[in-house]
Amino acid sequence: MIKIEEIKTAQLNPKEFIEEKTREISSIVGSGLAINALSGGVDSSCVTMLGHKALGNRLKTYFIDNGIMRQDEPQKIVSLFKKLGVHVEIVDAQVQFFNALKGITDPEEKREAITQTFYKHVFGRLIQETGAKYLLQGTILTDVDETVAGIKRQHNVFEQLGIDPKVAFGYKIIEPLVQLRKDGVRKVAVALGLPESVYNRMPFPGPALSARVIGEVTPQNLKIVRLATAITEEELASTPAFQYMAILHQDRVTGIRDGKRDFGLQIEIRCWDSIDARTAKPTRLPYEILDKLANRIVTEVPGVVSVTYNITPKPPSTMEAV
Ligand code: XMP
Repeated sequence: MIKIEEIKTAQLNPKEFIEEKTREISSIVGSGLAINALSGGVDSSCVTMLGHKALGNRLKTYFIDNGIMRQDEPQKIVSLFKKLGVHVEIVDAQVQFFNALKGITDPEEKREAITQTFYKHVFGRLIQETGAKYLLQGTILTDVDETVAGIKRQHNVFEQLGIDPKVAFGYKIIEPLVQLRKDGVRKVAVALGLPESVYNRMPFPGPALSARVIGEVTPQNLKIVRLATAITEEELASTPAFQYMAILHQDRVTGIRDGKRDFGLQIEIRCWDSIDARTAKPTRLPYEILDKLANRIVTEVPGVVSVTYNITPKPPSTMEAV
């Protein structure tokens, strides 16, 4: 197994880091092409900027619209990066992802289906079409740690599991951020001139909203969790929490609507205080905020009759539910 040397955030010099990684990317890719997928999160945004610094328009950046992202996310990210001078092409892969997720309820199988769809099918095709030999991606050290420890198979970790991407998918992967934790990446993002909406952006998992649907991910379930997520993000935007989320449960519970029994859906809210996602505590949210959030969700999200707030720390919980 490859040993990764951590760069501790306190020791990180972002300017030097950027220069070093830009040189590294240039020398690995040479005169060829590379591709990368931008989700708009701080990790993939940093990689996009580093890659463009190193390769200019020999880096092709894509937003993969997999159907499991948040409300209006593709358009928002594309227009934000346009302002930064980076052209991002949207790839519509919604049908492919929903087909791959059909009938799957097991969390790790879900992650595997998403991994295969991204790396084998979508990136594989983009690599073939462009003639690129490299994929640049924003894996960070916490992704590697948790995968190797067997806690959660992060969708973007291969070599540390003994999987050679060149053999498995037909291209090589460059991971410029793999020595950093999330707080280190944020420092690099500031030094790269990314706006606050990016460097302070709340983390969001690679498997996107499918990590927040317990049970099968269908377009209908996704619609519900997407709406609950939008409301949760609006209502908790003013809290200084590290991350917050809405989760759709599989089990139904009895509720009352219009004076009649309604065997309805449950949404669980999680809101975390954390520095680096390795450990986390539930935020002590004011009751008034929780109250308003629950009211909005049961009123605005069709079929939901129950909203709960998770009060378990990580560990033993993880931050995402799936
Ligand atoms: P967990 O749920 O492992 O989450 O406590 C820790 C942090 O990682 C994010 N997360 C993921 N990110 N692919 C990702 O890119 C994944 O499969 C994944 N699972 C969790 C999560 O949102 C949190 O910030």
